[in-house]
Amino acid sequence: MHYKSSLEFSIKLSGSLICLALLFVQSARSQNSVNIDIDTNKPIAHVSKEMWGIFFEDINFAADGGLYAELVKNRSFEFPMPLMGWKQLKTGGKQASLLIVNHQKAGSSHARHAAIDLIEGPGSFVLSNEGFRGIGLEKDKQYRFSIAACSFSDSVKIRIEAEDPKNEIVGSAKIDKLTSDWQTYTVIFKCKETTAKARLNVIFEGKGKVEVDMISLFPRETWKNRENGLRADLAQKLADLHPGFMRFPGGCIVEGRELLNRYQWKKTIGPTDGRELLLNRWNVEFAKRSAPDYYQSFGLGFFEYFQFCEDIGASPLPILNCGMACQYNSAEVVSLDQLDPYIQDALDLIDFANGPQTSKWGALRAQLGHPKPFNLRLLGIGNEQWGEQYIERFKLFAAVLKSKYPEVKLISSAGPSPNGTMFDLLNKKLREEKAELIDEHYYRDPEWFLKNVNRYDTYERKDSKVFAGEYAVHIPDNMQKDTHAESHNTIWSALCEAAFMTGLERNADVVQMASYAPLLASIEAWQWRPDLIWFDNLHSVATPNYYVQQMFAVNKGDVVLSTLSKGKPLAGQDSIYATSSIDTVKGNIIVKLINTSLNARTVNLNLSGSNQLKDMITWIELSDKDKSAFNSLDNPQAVKPEMKTIKLGKRKTFELKGLSANVLVLPLSKKSNFNKN
Ligand code: AHR
Repeated sequence: MHYKSSLEFSIKLSGSLICLALLFVQSARSQNSVNIDIDTNKPIAHVSKEMWGIFFEDINFAADGGLYAELVKNRSFEFPMPLMGWKQLKTGGKQASLLIVNHQKAGSSHARHAAIDLIEGPGSFVLSNEGFRGIGLEKDKQYRFSIAACSFSDSVKIRIEAEDPKNEIVGSAKIDKLTSDWQTYTVIFKCKETTAKARLNVIFEGKGKVEVDMISLFPRETWKNRENGLRADLAQKLADLHPGFMRFPGGCIVEGRELLNRYQWKKTIGPTDGRELLLNRWNVEFAKRSAPDYYQSFGLGFFEYFQFCEDIGASPLPILNCGMACQYNSAEVVSLDQLDPYIQDALDLIDFANGPQTSKWGALRAQLGHPKPFNLRLLGIGNEQWGEQYIERFKLFAAVLKSKYPEVKLISSAGPSPNGTMFDLLNKKLREEKAELIDEHYYRDPEWFLKNVNRYDTYERKDSKVFAGEYAVHIPDNMQKDTHAESHNTIWSALCEAAFMTGLERNADVVQMASYAPLLASIEAWQWRPDLIWFDNLHSVATPNYYVQQMFAVNKGDVVLSTLSKGKPLAGQDSIYATSSIDTVKGNIIVKLINTSLNARTVNLNLSGSNQLKDMITWIELSDKDKSAFNSLDNPQAVKPEMKTIKLGKRKTFELKGLSANVLVLPLSKKSNFNKN
């Protein structure tokens, strides 16, 4: 372990040596107790404000069909198959015809609308939308339906009905009068029953022609009750993680399979009917998990991402395409002499986020409703790129961006693997370039995480820092018996991540940011697992891995303390992993203890150098006896943290349950004794 000998700060604590002791009663003890020495006079690193964050990508229907609360799929007929998600029905002998009209004008990004000719008969013509594998509606909740329409016929009327799988109408509304110019009509209805699988029927009656577009349905209750905003339960779960940063919008969707399908932030802002639809690369990526109806409407676009980051107190971390499409797919790159527009996009993004209202892009931000800057301080250049061609492009980006905006830290890619030739080349070259934060990814088996808990102990400490931008323990498929999609998010995977995270925290002077990936997954339409949060049309479930992230983020501390056992970092001896820190603002010492053994373990905690502790401490514990335990939508609380307040007294011993992650929060009597100078 490399300890910093001279830190810029010191913590001066008065008072005498304190020994803590607690006793847990649990039977199975196969080992002697483990001594842990925590020295509050030995701060070993600062923990950055951004240490534990979240990685958001529109994968597994995380945005459309997920966090973005729109309930209608293909609302403006822009999917390549314009009626995908829609059914045409006729009732009562109605004669009618439907055309999808392409009115593409130069510069217009929404090309199509539906033109309906209602001919004879008393019945109706119906456009019925299936939603995202059904539409989730809740009893007594209100829903906002809107439609852009025009008609020259006074007799044309529009009604809507939400219909459950038993053909019961659970909500309805009508629009009486249409005008001959295009207008958006909005009606609100209350739902009578809860159903996860409704359809939305848009019913046209009368005689004459009617044209429609942007057919939309949102819950009225959204995150912060913003009209046509985010799904409240999912947004709340993200907020409850208290992330230090949010990385968006990916992930591989930043790259696109080809450059044509890359993510372009400028196309994701402004009125939603002007945001150009794009193929989601996860639509086609995995043959076994293909999702032909997966597109990006960008209803959740860059303005909304920034706004959400602000809502939840997370530093925004956008990742931009660096002139390279996915190297696993096409490996298409833009030639170096054509890179300028990509770099300009990055410059403009910084202006959009931070510029004054008088600048071009700052003015647009203000016009969109946010006059104040979004305070962008982090920017990713490329996602999971590799090779010399990445270095060449990164250098060109960095030269321009750093000269104009030195305050914005740039994140560069270490490729898809945490070791090997590709990684070594990137790591070496990027460090030569004095890259500020290098993004390492590891999707690995449990053993890898446990073996690599010391990965950063011997890392180069000067210059470049690490962003552990995507990681998750992957339990091999052949070791999973359960058919639940969520079953890969076991307590065991969560504990191995927690153990590894103690190594990240211990090396917080090297690893300045970390995020689990991916974040959200639709239980019926996922492409990639494990994931941090699972959802269906009505509910969502936090995984054990979610709780680990939350335990670390909420109990972060800002100064890491020396935490040793027999003079060495406690990183797997007797299956215990430990780290400790001080939260100098709240005045707490925070000890994190992970026990990966099936058996209980006893630890003796010796704190030296501290002043007086308060008598009552908090213990947060996540555990299960069964390694393969997981949370499902059917049983969402199977594994969840328990919090208790206990009296410290003079006891010295803590007994950790088998398979457990523990956070002890020890409040100091006088937090003012900390001196960070
Ligand atoms: O998190 C899923 C994918 O894993 C991301 O899109 C990509 O960056 C990585 O390969």
